[in-house]
Amino acid sequence: MTSLEGFINQIEKEISSFSLPEEPKNLYDPLRYFFHLGGKRLRPVLTLMTGANFGAKGTNALHGALAIELFHNFSLIHDDIMDEAPFRRGKETVHTKWNNHIAILSGDVLFVKAYESLAKCEAKYLPDLLNLFNKTAAEVCEGQQMDMDFESRECVSEEEYIEMIRLKTSVLLGCAIQFGGIVSDLDAKMQQALYDFGQYIGIAFQIKDDLLDLYGESAKVGKQIGGDVLSDKKTLLSIKAKELDCDMQTLAKITDKEQRIVTAQEMFEESGAKNMVENAMRTYFNRAISSLELFPADHKKLYNEFAEYLINRSH
Ligand code: IPE
Ligand code: IPE
Ligand code: MG
Ligand code: MG
Ligand code: MG
Repeated sequence: MTSLEGFINQIEKEISSFSLPEEPKNLYDPLRYFFHLGGKRLRPVLTLMTGANFGAKGTNALHGALAIELFHNFSLIHDDIMDEAPFRRGKETVHTKWNNHIAILSGDVLFVKAYESLAKCEAKYLPDLLNLFNKTAAEVCEGQQMDMDFESRECVSEEEYIEMIRLKTSVLLGCAIQFGGIVSDLDAKMQQALYDFGQYIGIAFQIKDDLLDLYGESAKVGKQIGGDVLSDKKTLLSIKAKELDCDMQTLAKITDKEQRIVTAQEMFEESGAKNMVENAMRTYFNRAISSLELFPADHKKLYNEFAEYLINRSH
């Protein structure tokens, strides 16, 4: 991620110096803990990169980028409660280290902190930024609800899955990149092209996340491997495996957790499902790249690098 490192450092500096009240400790300590666990900071990089590409003035891109990362961190703290996830970024999740009530409330106050950061942008940009941010935040909740509803459904179509991940994950990447376009005064057509890139690469990103959930190395991913299989999440892997006549019912009946995960790994690979999912990820990667056609090559370079990193990452 060499060319992207400058942007990562910029946002890392903001997060590490982000000031939170001392008391109540059980409200703010979890946030201090979570911020120090790191994270790839991908979404704010999209905002900063776009602001730098198109000449955003002042600190607007930085405030917008921080708002996006704070919102993302809030969504992870709550997601880990919903997914009953034990680990995040290589350490205990907030609800495991503290408890569910604390994780809910720390998450809530973090959502407010995201708005505080956004409110620091110049007033002339605020209507557009807020409209997009509010729309995105509601969509993320819609996607998260669909994700949970799908757990108890036997059949979920590929289209339904794509719509679910578009909402829970990719709209935030679209929002992040369009924030950069808004504070650079880009016209509507350019902003839409950027949003499309963010959305398509966000879909590829979530497909990669699902692949890493089953085939990644725990030490690198920083999360429990096989969590999606254990909670019967509907991912493109499980959808394709079903289409390919894998015996999903027998898989679901395996009581030993390790055994169920290993069986899923083998089943999804041998049936060709894994391969199909990797191809689907590349299709969305290509759509993302095509969305940027109207931009000159020097503007596209960083986005290409970003997109390549997203689909080739091992964490
Ligand atoms: C995890 O996002 C949640 C998803 C939408 C897949 P990241 O993989 O960007 O998480 P961090 O911020 O780097 O920990
Ligand atoms: C998370 O999707 C999406 C949001 C946080 C909104 P996942 O549940 O797949 O993310 P991870 O795998 O826990 O990071
Ligand atoms: Mg989830
Ligand atoms: Mg999760
Ligand atoms: Mg996941």
